[in-house]
Amino acid sequence: MREVAQILQAIKAGFNVLVVGQRGSGKTSLLNHVEYRLKDDPKEFVVPVFALSEIKTAADFIWLLARMIHNRSNQLPISKIKRTVLRSLEILVGGGILPEVIDLARQPSGEMTHIDQYRVLDEFVNICTEIKHRGIQPVFLIDEADKMPDLIHGILSSLRDTLWRTGAVYVLTCDEMTKPLMLRPPVDSFFERIVELHPLSYDEMVDFIRKRLKADLFPHEVYKMIHLASNGIPRNIVRTSRMIAEKHADEHWSPSDFVEKASSILKHDRAMSRSEFLSRSERLVMQYVQDSGPSSASDKNLQTFLAVKRARLVQILTKLERLGFLKSTQVPGTRRKLYSLAG
Ligand SMILES: Nc1ncnc2c1ncn2[C@@H]1O[C@H](COP(=O)(O)OP(=O)(O)OP(=O)(O)O)[C@@H](O)[C@H]1O
Ligand SMILES: [Mg+2]
Repeated sequence: MREVAQILQAIKAGFNVLVVGQRGSGKTSLLNHVEYRLKDDPKEFVVPVFALSEIKTAADFIWLLARMIHNRSNQLPISKIKRTVLRSLEILVGGGILPEVIDLARQPSGEMTHIDQYRVLDEFVNICTEIKHRGIQPVFLIDEADKMPDLIHGILSSLRDTLWRTGAVYVLTCDEMTKPLMLRPPVDSFFERIVELHPLSYDEMVDFIRKRLKADLFPHEVYKMIHLASNGIPRNIVRTSRMIAEKHADEHWSPSDFVEKASSILKHDRAMSRSEFLSRSERLVMQYVQDSGPSSASDKNLQTFLAVKRARLVQILTKLERLGFLKSTQVPGTRRKLYSLAG
């Protein structure tokens, strides 16, 4: 994949990377892949950073990175890196700054004095530079920086120069919406490479689905529809193509029905995903119309299903029509309106 190559190249060059992509575009997968590619490379010491959500301050952040180094070096056979890391950690433990057992769940900064915080920072720089001196590049992979963009931005602002001094490479991910927040100065200069994850092209998507489903199940028109419905975002592609494949297997669609059935599944799915912000009863109405077909406010089953009277149902149906979820048609010769999915 193009993006993997870009990141590996940046890491080799010693550049910090910000990976940007929409929700579900494959940032986590990409980082996992980078880790996999680097983990046996003797020139890199790759440290995936978890539990980012528990940090509150810059000191927490450094503490977390130190623990992650420790964690990772524990998984290594006894090596120079491992000895280096352990020695530095011993200094911190000996100085009473780190507890003897490095506890992943522990929150240190509240209890740390300013001086201790500086020592942790210093020791962290030492650990990294020691590793560097052995010709090995420390690489921190930090996923989901967008979960707390302001905090991470603040931390990177205040620690920018210190982090540079470590000589380590930092790879962070964030979604498109938080990219501008993340890149406010002075953090813009911290990231020497921005790698953007783009939506999959039609051909890439077809390739991807074939591999995922281990079969070439769909007619060309259906691939086209999935591409349109998913906007080329891997998570949406996985979800919609699975949904269609499962229904197809359950209901034994004939080849002549395939396109029409798949299209109605996608249409309903779109209606449902748009309805995320609706109230519970509004969603139930959508569900009902989807499953039972066009319905009216005098539909007794629908009233019972929602446990409401006709007047209330009229309100809900009218609102759903106004929002563009349903469309109504007059039943000829009556005042009754039939509501169906607006598609
Ligand atoms: N290049 C790819 N090829 C195949 N499948 C992929 C690819 N990238 C992502 N996927 C699949 O797409 C889905 C979403 O990917 P992932 O969780 O990595 O996205 P994300 O950008 O980290 O999402 P979020 O913004 O929610 O953190 C996963 O099921 C993953 O297996
Ligand atoms: Mg992710």
